[in-house]
Amino acid sequence: MMNYRAARFSIFLISAFLFLAPSLSAQTVPTDDESVKNGETLFKNNCYSCHRVKEKWTGPALAGYQNRVPSIEWTIAWVKNSAKLIASGDEYANKIYNEYNKSQMTAFTNLKDEEILDILAYVEVEAAKPDAAPVVVTEDGAAPAAGVPSAYINAIIIGMIVILLLLLVVLGFIVSTLKRVVENRNLSEEEKEVVESPITLSTVTRSPGFIFLVIFLVTTVGFKTVIDGLFTIGVQQGYAPKQPIAFSHKIHAGENEVNCKYCHTGVMKGKQANIPSPNICMNCHTQIKTESPEIKKIYAAIGYDPATGTYSGKTEPIKWVRIHNIPDLAYFNHAQHVNVAGIECQTCHGPIEEMEVVYQYSLLTMGWCIDCHRKTEVNGKDNAYYDKLIQLHEQSKGKNNKMKVEDIGGLECAKCHY
Ligand code: HEC
Ligand code: HEC
Ligand code: HEC
Ligand code: HEC
Ligand code: HEC
Ligand code: HEC
Repeated sequence: MMNYRAARFSIFLISAFLFLAPSLSAQTVPTDDESVKNGETLFKNNCYSCHRVKEKWTGPALAGYQNRVPSIEWTIAWVKNSAKLIASGDEYANKIYNEYNKSQMTAFTNLKDEEILDILAYVEVEAAKPDAAPVVVTEDGAAPAAGVPSAYINAIIIGMIVILLLLLVVLGFIVSTLKRVVENRNLSEEEKEVVESPITLSTVTRSPGFIFLVIFLVTTVGFKTVIDGLFTIGVQQGYAPKQPIAFSHKIHAGENEVNCKYCHTGVMKGKQANIPSPNICMNCHTQIKTESPEIKKIYAAIGYDPATGTYSGKTEPIKWVRIHNIPDLAYFNHAQHVNVAGIECQTCHGPIEEMEVVYQYSLLTMGWCIDCHRKTEVNGKDNAYYDKLIQLHEQSKGKNNKMKVEDIGGLECAKCHY
């Protein structure tokens, strides 16, 4: 009978928890999927060149903006015309403007209030997402393995602790109820001693329930540490450093379909693919986005003045951070793979045309090179030299035994090391 009351009490606790949690956050920004989706497109088209959700870029990381800005109305006014707000003497507007060395955010007078709210909806959803684990690809380039983001594990652990606490409350009720029931009975001395034995620290710590609880918590925490550790193996893969200019392959190689070889001029001819010089950027950017602070960095690098179209002669190389790097003891040649073997860039570098920021897709270990040399057929197309070799190979090994890179010496140490 009292069990029932205790159960009712715990149901009350759980529902109170469930109802209170959501009402703690503001509701002015929409949360429906359609708004978030629309916001994502608007964010990518208008804000992405200067803002990331979780990372500081040209402008601040937008995650958690709600806790900094004076109000949602302020945010809308700011996005529409930040200069106006700064000129009005608004305290926070001037503070953040000075913090970012007075760099001017573009005015978005054409955006409607609802559109800005959609962008904020997207920012809030994106900010709440757990950080993605670095991209993990297996030796043979198979699909990335899905990991358990550690935020989920944290949530599970917190959930378990809440449930355990509720259990404790319920058990406490049951004990006190039982005691009251038992007090009204006639008990033998022995039974009385058990019922009246005081609950001290030592009776608690020696009880099987407590020991179980401790073992359970220690195992869970240990398990989580091991999983977190596993995710940091092979850190070089997925390496995506921040670059001095927010150059996006998605915009250039993806949306605008600029050929990889237009910029990486070395791939057909030699060992290096080459990072393009600013002159290649200038083929387009003397005209395109000339007002963008990111493009102005290109101008600064070559001492170009867009107002007059003249060069000052003062240059300062753009310090791109190198991403792919095999040690000097090994030799890799792009032309051999791209030109002679006809391998697509994406086989080794992944979907570059979808990357806002380039990351290392493949392992680049010796095992990775060897594995492909074992599996890949030699490309004999339009190559008289290989035609002869392939003919000889098939004569000696049979028609179904295709000539692989390993058959032309692709596993010999000296081919890659000298
Ligand atoms: C040309 C670069 C640029 C673009 C494009 C841009 N911003 Fe900004 N934004 C900034 C800079 C820089 C700041 C810091 C304040 C300053 O210096 O004016 C800022 C500040 C902000 C702030 C204040 C954030 C805070 O933490 O206090 C918000 C909100 C914001 N931007 C939203 C947007 C939205 C939404 C868009 C797209 C519609 C956008 N920005 C597009 C550069 C930009
Ligand atoms: C408009 C010029 C341009 C085009 C087109 C372009 N890239 Fe790039 N690429 C760059 C620049 C600039 C960098 C250096 C900055 C960076 O890493 O984002 C770079 C970096 C890279 C890197 C990383 C280099 C390193 O440091 O290890 C790879 C790999 C790459 N590009 C592959 C490609 C592929 C594949 C394509 C075609 C799908 C392509 N690029 C198209 C300009 C370009
Ligand atoms: C073939 C033409 C072309 C070349 C070459 C080119 N770009 Fe672009 N770039 C574009 C186009 C088109 C856009 C998108 C403009 C837009 O969003 O309206 C763009 C956008 C950008 C932006 C985003 C600017 C902003 O504020 O939105 C950056 C940064 C950029 N390019 C850097 C570079 C760099 C660095 C190079 C040289 C390595 C380069 N681009 C070479 C055509 C080019
Ligand atoms: C067979 C695998 C493979 C293919 C195919 C491939 N790459 Fe690479 N790429 C590599 C490796 C390995 C490195 C690192 C080389 C080093 O450290 O010397 C690299 C490095 C790069 C770099 C860094 C700068 C440099 O010159 O080392 C760029 C840029 C690049 N690749 C672009 C491309 C482009 C563009 C294509 C397609 C036209 C392509 N790659 C095709 C394996 C490949
Ligand atoms: C995607 C498959 C692939 C990967 C990955 C790959 N290669 Fe190759 N490699 C080939 C093919 C195909 C050839 C044959 C080219 C030819 O026909 O000459 C080749 C040829 C070579 C050769 C010339 C071999 C000879 O006998 O002339 C060298 C050296 C080489 N690769 C080095 C490397 C190194 C170093 C790596 C790793 C950093 C690597 N390769 C990764 C496919 C690959
Ligand atoms: C297809 C190219 C290729 C062939 C063939 C090759 N290696 Fe390597 N090797 C590499 C690459 C690439 C690396 C660098 C890998 C890395 O940084 O993880 C490497 C690294 C090494 C290292 C250094 C390991 C380290 O931890 O620094 C040794 C030693 C080595 N190879 C020995 C050999 C021997 C012995 C052979 C012949 C049986 C051989 N390799 C054949 C590509 C090759």
